[in-house]
Amino acid sequence: MGTYDEMFRRSIEDPEGFWGEAAHAITWHKKWDAVLDSSNPPFYRWFVGGELNTCYNALDRHVENGRGDQIALTYDSPVTKTIRKFTYREVLDGVSRFAGVLRNLGVAKGDTVVIYMPMIPEAVIAMLACARLGAVHSVVFGGFAPHELALRINDAKPNVVISASGAVEVTRLIEYKPLLNRAIELATHKPEKCVIFQRPFLKAGMIQNRDLDWEELMSNASPVPCVPVNATDPLYILYTSGTTGKPKGVVRDNGGHAVALRWSLEYIYDTKPGEVYWAASDVGWVVGHSYIVYGPLLTGCTTVLYEGKSVGTPDPGAFWRVISQHGVKTLFTAPTAFRAIKKEDPSGEHIKKYDLSQFRYLFLAGERLDPDTYHWAHNLLKKPVIDHWWQTETGWPIAANCLGIEHFPVKPGSCTKPVPGYDVRVIDNLGNPVKAREEGLVVVKLPLPPGTLPSLWKADERFVESYMKIFPGYYFTSDGGFFDEDGYVHIMGRVDDVINVAGHRLSTGAMEEVIAQHKDVAECAVIGAKDSLKGQLPVGLVVLKAGVIREEEELKRELVQMIRNEIGPIACFKEAIIVTRLPKTRSGKILRSTIRKIADGQEYAIPSTIDDPSILAEIEEGLKRIGYAQRDVRRSPW
Ligand code: COA
Ligand code: AMP
Repeated sequence: MGTYDEMFRRSIEDPEGFWGEAAHAITWHKKWDAVLDSSNPPFYRWFVGGELNTCYNALDRHVENGRGDQIALTYDSPVTKTIRKFTYREVLDGVSRFAGVLRNLGVAKGDTVVIYMPMIPEAVIAMLACARLGAVHSVVFGGFAPHELALRINDAKPNVVISASGAVEVTRLIEYKPLLNRAIELATHKPEKCVIFQRPFLKAGMIQNRDLDWEELMSNASPVPCVPVNATDPLYILYTSGTTGKPKGVVRDNGGHAVALRWSLEYIYDTKPGEVYWAASDVGWVVGHSYIVYGPLLTGCTTVLYEGKSVGTPDPGAFWRVISQHGVKTLFTAPTAFRAIKKEDPSGEHIKKYDLSQFRYLFLAGERLDPDTYHWAHNLLKKPVIDHWWQTETGWPIAANCLGIEHFPVKPGSCTKPVPGYDVRVIDNLGNPVKAREEGLVVVKLPLPPGTLPSLWKADERFVESYMKIFPGYYFTSDGGFFDEDGYVHIMGRVDDVINVAGHRLSTGAMEEVIAQHKDVAECAVIGAKDSLKGQLPVGLVVLKAGVIREEEELKRELVQMIRNEIGPIACFKEAIIVTRLPKTRSGKILRSTIRKIADGQEYAIPSTIDDPSILAEIEEGLKRIGYAQRDVRRSPW
């Protein structure tokens, strides 16, 4: 292993040599013909001609190589008071039998399967069983409402959906089955079969000839072997928010993904086979795909599947309990989870109750790590606290302190340096490079490294339009930021209409589409305003139709309910104000950044392009009514 500078340089100057070597950590059914196919930019393909099976690499080969009795998965569920441990052999047994179930239902290589499940071992088994058959899974986060699930069903067109009877959110029971039924009613594509895992505390009603019981199917299932697939075949689709109401189906291939994730565990997370790695996220998000399921299992680690939160399940000591009880070496979560602990236990009384001597690193991502939270976590834990930056599209980090290569001094507010493979640049609107410390648009020179999105699901044109066309030769991240004089990357936030709420990526455009359907609404804008716990929260500004008079609180309640019904509670939409009109440029563009500044209590200049400046005072007044637009910026975590 070389130093960071050497490794980084090699990854950019000789990507084929660099990733060709990394690929030896994966077991191939057939070796690739070429490491990188650059013949059709911007559609780059890694390990063309190679064949492998991701599930084989995550399970079978570890059992064959003597890890059969090692714990592969620790399921820790404070909400159901359950802890269960599964060895690699046991997970392999469950996965190969569930793959048999799916095969009997007609699922074959290349078919799609939607998984709508809470954080239970069966979700992991379902994902790996798809991978075993060469089928393409699309996991949908449980906090999404039926309409969002229906959009994903329509796009992925699965013949089989896998779900569960329900989940427990802290103390509240959430029934998944009625949500699934409603989604299938709404969807134009109708899946033939639904496999339902009945949780002991909640029995779902079943629809005859469509719904099948997981346990019953498993009791008659025979295990099936792995089906080799092309390295370039899709492993999964994961939908993520774009600027419109139609989510983007990010595609992940098999070969590049396995190589990149296996590499990242060792060189970014400094985590070795046999160690305990815990990503406190959800299988419905990219972090869950990469670092609850695939990354740790491809590496032969023990992964922790945690069905709980950082607070309230039952207290702010929950994370420390899990770390000490299961010997976690590396924890990966979102800064919000730590801000929640900090709020309830500012002096860290709970941490004193647990032995964290085996705990080594805290990695945070999903949103900007504000320096306050960094210092609090670092002072409390006295361990490295590492901010790193990535996106659903990339599937693994773009910039990080790569602890397995070289540990750089941490600069709070920065995610350190570009990860080998990512040629990160900061440019202005015209595509010119900007100076150190000058904020601009963050792009990555093509080709992107293995494991990143080869395209969007059945939407090559949208892929090109969204990411590749804006600055030809570069992938546009939609994030703003800068390099400092030491080459550290600072990511300052999205430059589009995507917002980040508790580390979850949400589209304000999608919320606007829902609000616009209200019978009294003429037009609306949703912006992300700063919040001291969740980073950002959506706030709606609503213009009523001519002649309509509505009481603000009552209208707000209706809009909140509409967003919960259409998008889901995870949107965290709780605030809206009525305004006479929206501030716009003379050409009709809504001045969102000005509204955002007003909401955050920042100084703002009246834009020279505004059609009528008098509306800004009214908006400031309205936002004050709901606790925003406070000039002391108490809401900001920064
Ligand atoms: N199914 C159904 N509903 C869900 C859900 C699920 N899987 N997950 C969340 N929800 C609901 C919650 O119950 C809540 O509903 P409410 O408005 O009725 O209370 C809403 O969605 C928002 O959830 P959440 O953002 O989790 O807020 P919270 O107040 O319950 O918890 C934190 C606050 C800080 C503990 C929580 O946001 C957190 O842990 N954030 C870290 C996020 C994270 O790990 N991100 C992953 C990226 S790495
Ligand atoms: P998602 O696709 O849900 O992972 O969200 C990706 C977005 O989250 C990025 O485009 C960033 O805006 C934001 N993000 C993720 N990690 C970080 C980080 N470490 N610092 C700043 N922003 C981040």
